[in-house]
Amino acid sequence: MATTRAAVYDGDARLTVRDVELREPGRGEVLVRIGASGVCGSDRHVLDGDWQMPQPTIMGHEGAGVVEAVGPGVRSLEPGDHVIMTWFYPCGTCSACRQGRTWVCTGSRSEECLLPDGSTPMQLDGAVAYPYLAVGSMSERVVVAEQAAVRVPKELPFDVAALIGCSIATGVGAVVNDAEVKPGRSALVIGAGGVGLSIIMGLKLAGASPIIAADVTDESLELARQFGATHTVPSGADLAEQVRSIVPDGVDVAFEAIGRPETIALMPAALQRGGAAVIVGLPPQDRPVPIDALALAEEGKSLLGSNYGSTVPARDFPMLGWLYLDGKLPIDELITNRCSLDEVNDAFDLMRSGARGRSVIVF
Ligand SMILES: NC(=O)c1ccc[n+]([C@@H]2O[C@H](COP(=O)([O-])OP(=O)(O)OC[C@H]3O[C@@H](n4cnc5c(N)ncnc54)[C@H](O)[C@@H]3O)[C@@H](O)[C@H]2O)c1
Ligand SMILES: [Zn+2]
Ligand SMILES: [Zn+2]
Repeated sequence: MATTRAAVYDGDARLTVRDVELREPGRGEVLVRIGASGVCGSDRHVLDGDWQMPQPTIMGHEGAGVVEAVGPGVRSLEPGDHVIMTWFYPCGTCSACRQGRTWVCTGSRSEECLLPDGSTPMQLDGAVAYPYLAVGSMSERVVVAEQAAVRVPKELPFDVAALIGCSIATGVGAVVNDAEVKPGRSALVIGAGGVGLSIIMGLKLAGASPIIAADVTDESLELARQFGATHTVPSGADLAEQVRSIVPDGVDVAFEAIGRPETIALMPAALQRGGAAVIVGLPPQDRPVPIDALALAEEGKSLLGSNYGSTVPARDFPMLGWLYLDGKLPIDELITNRCSLDEVNDAFDLMRSGARGRSVIVF
């Protein structure tokens, strides 16, 4: 056992940075030294008690770093490789994985914060500790499943690579894989935080127009315009009318990237007939969304749930890295705050205050 400093959630919204014991990588596992970890809205849901999580939890799931050691049987990675972690590692053997649909894998134990063999690699004061989504990237070092770490080009800065691990893969994937947006399609994005801005980046890349962004802060809307939003509107109950004042028939596609039942429910009315609404933001547990099913069916509209932007990490992480390196995805502009692990609570306070863009913990 070695020790690693990590941000620990123990049921209190304020994390404590503590020494956590980390075991050697076992069969099919790798030890990664973290270079950077993003601070995502999903981490915040856990701190706010929105979702049940095994505790104590080592927070962070949007991370990148360098492989330091590999366990027996690991063939795809070696020490020195730069990797991005996936927070939903595929089991590789279920029917979804065999069809290449890893984002709906039924054998992954990520959501239980467990490695494939059912163990966790971390302990706190001698008792088992759980790396969030089997990553736990707000830690100097982590041990993850081989299939949870994807090799990427070494030219990719760690802070940019970390964001590819969640917000970018989710946002760009929701556009390209879930909504299959074609050039010239009109779009609405509700919530212009880390994930919403990634959706806007994806929409620009796909050639969507107009791109309408809705948020409650002017700062976020300003950043939305920087990433490619052609129009911005304040987010309120009259959102559909606001959208129809720009696109009279309504938009082809809408994305919710906040995780509020109230704003998810606003999407169908902003769509044109035949349009699709994509649920990307994740509401708290047990908070159903009221939807006018009759209107949805009669107007031929679709409601799609998006897990991880239907991303295949081994295929998409390197591709998103190359799009950044080729200047086609300005991921670095999403980073508005770089901080140390000890400043992790300040980063969450910033997020709660509605600050724009993404905070990244740099190690
Ligand atoms: N589906 C997935 O696989 C997946 C992956 C990652 C994150 N998420 C979810 O996406 C959501 C957003 O995450 P994030 O990291 O972008 O969070 P964030 O805090 O960075 O962004 C949220 C944004 O919503 C805005 N907002 C708040 N209330 C609003 C309102 N009433 N109307 C309009 N805008 C409002 C905020 O100003 C902010 O810009 C979270 O629920 C997170 O759990 C889902
Ligand atoms: Zn995330
Ligand atoms: Zn599987």
